[in-house]
Amino acid sequence: MSPPGHPKGDDRSAQHEGAPVTAVRDETQAQVGLEVRGLRVVYDGFVAADDVSFDVRPGESFGIVGESGSGKSTVLRALCSLAPRTAGEVRLVGSAATPGSKAWRRQVQMVFQDPYGSLHPRQTVDRILAEPLAIHGVADAEARIERALADVGLADGYRFRYPHQLSGGQRQRVAVARALILEPPVLLLDEPTSALDASVQAEVLNLLDALRVRRGLTYVMVSHDLAVVTHLCSRLMVMRAGRVVEQVASSDLAAHRVQADYTRALMEASLGFRRP
Ligand SMILES: Nc1ncnc2c1ncn2[C@@H]1O[C@H](COP(=O)(O)OP(=O)(O)OP(=O)(O)O)[C@@H](O)[C@H]1O
Ligand SMILES: [Mg+2]
Repeated sequence: MSPPGHPKGDDRSAQHEGAPVTAVRDETQAQVGLEVRGLRVVYDGFVAADDVSFDVRPGESFGIVGESGSGKSTVLRALCSLAPRTAGEVRLVGSAATPGSKAWRRQVQMVFQDPYGSLHPRQTVDRILAEPLAIHGVADAEARIERALADVGLADGYRFRYPHQLSGGQRQRVAVARALILEPPVLLLDEPTSALDASVQAEVLNLLDALRVRRGLTYVMVSHDLAVVTHLCSRLMVMRAGRVVEQVASSDLAAHRVQADYTRALMEASLGFRRP
């Protein structure tokens, strides 16, 4: 599977290592959804998100698109208490964890846009992956680290490398492994591949999609690339200036069935929608 507009590439350094990820669900982990109602985030008087409401069904992949500065990252950050929730409610469906609690942090993990900035430069992959396990008091660290590396297609030999000894694609695989190591049911993905070149992007996106299907994960994925979101998410929300413009099913977007002129403009600006 390859997102439209992205040539199917191969992150050769990682592709042949570890078990291949197959798109067959092989685990029975409890699925968890998200409910967001009237979310408002204000930074020093600046309203970065206002009256944002959406639902993500358990096991669903939900996209957020919009121009730069529209509040996409702010919404994801508010979901994991990295941005202040000035008003509104966020809730997990299928879990009693409350926002900001340790239980919530264990169940809702984020993958950041820039894998270099988000991995500590002086920590080996082993240490990067061990840290969340230590924080949450998880005992079987050895087995979990091995499994997380295999999940993202990296051989065990990468365990003792530093981030600068990895390719961009491998670094983002490590970032995904770190997010997965606590086996959270919900992943928040903020432009998870925008720092990578097109061929490696496709590899990492395919990996994320296969992991979601296999483990029954719930994704909220931010991307500036409508083609990627349409391909990987079943529904998406368009944001502008901190507000929701509309929500649309990917199938409707692909068929150009959208309500708002702004969505249409975004669509036309997106290479993936240009017809030959
Ligand atoms: N910590 C902060 N303090 C003050 N303002 C902030 C902070 N974080 C974000 N903002 C502002 O909030 C607005 C929304 O930012 P956000 O990062 O959510 O945009 P975005 O949609 O993710 O954009 P991009 O596509 O460029 O990543 C921007 O105007 C930004 O400058
Ligand atoms: Mg952002």
